[in-house]
Amino acid sequence: VKDRLVELRRGELLLSTDRTRVDVDRVLAWLHASHWGGSVTRELLVRSIQNSLVVGVYGPAGQLGFLRVVTDMATFAYFTDVIVAESARGQGIASWMVEAVLAHPDLQGLRRFALLTRDAQTLYEKFGFSATDLSASTYMELRPPRR
Ligand SMILES: CC(C)(COP(=O)(O)OP(=O)(O)OC[C@H]1O[C@@H](n2cnc3c(N)ncnc32)[C@H](O)[C@@H]1OP(=O)(O)O)[C@@H](O)C(=O)NCCC(=O)NCCS
Repeated sequence: VKDRLVELRRGELLLSTDRTRVDVDRVLAWLHASHWGGSVTRELLVRSIQNSLVVGVYGPAGQLGFLRVVTDMATFAYFTDVIVAESARGQGIASWMVEAVLAHPDLQGLRRFALLTRDAQTLYEKFGFSATDLSASTYMELRPPRR
């Protein structure tokens, strides 16, 4: 994905979309402890980072937050793997990452931002996300068997 680099600072914290800054092993450990990312391999994570727009938040002791956006940068963007180090939660890091994505110069004028969440609705509602009424259409998916 050829997205423009975004870097923002808040005190000691840096928010960056630079893929080379991502601490892959740290993010992998967070995903393995999450309720959805238990089976992600390092290779899969690296490939997904290369082919997504990614946001990281970094402090003096390393990475504190990660968010990945799957997007065509024209019509659609899907938020996934939104995660903040346990010790850094409740300080607005996830909110900052969501805000940075919505303000990203390559994600303006899109038709739709989508995501699935089990219990973090309030994080997204603040930015205008709302639960979708699917009565007029059906969300469908195919889950190919793992190879
Ligand atoms: C969800 C998560 C990313 C939030 O990160 P964070 O940096 O602590 O979030 P913020 O400090 O920006 O808080 C944003 C809002 O989300 C809400 N929120 C945070 N974590 C929440 C949770 N687990 N459940 C419900 N609401 C939550 C807070 O109430 C907060 O609202 P406020 O601004 O009105 O106080 C973090 O708790 C996390 O990594 N959880 C484990 C992974 C996960 O479940 N990810 C969600 C993927 S959709």
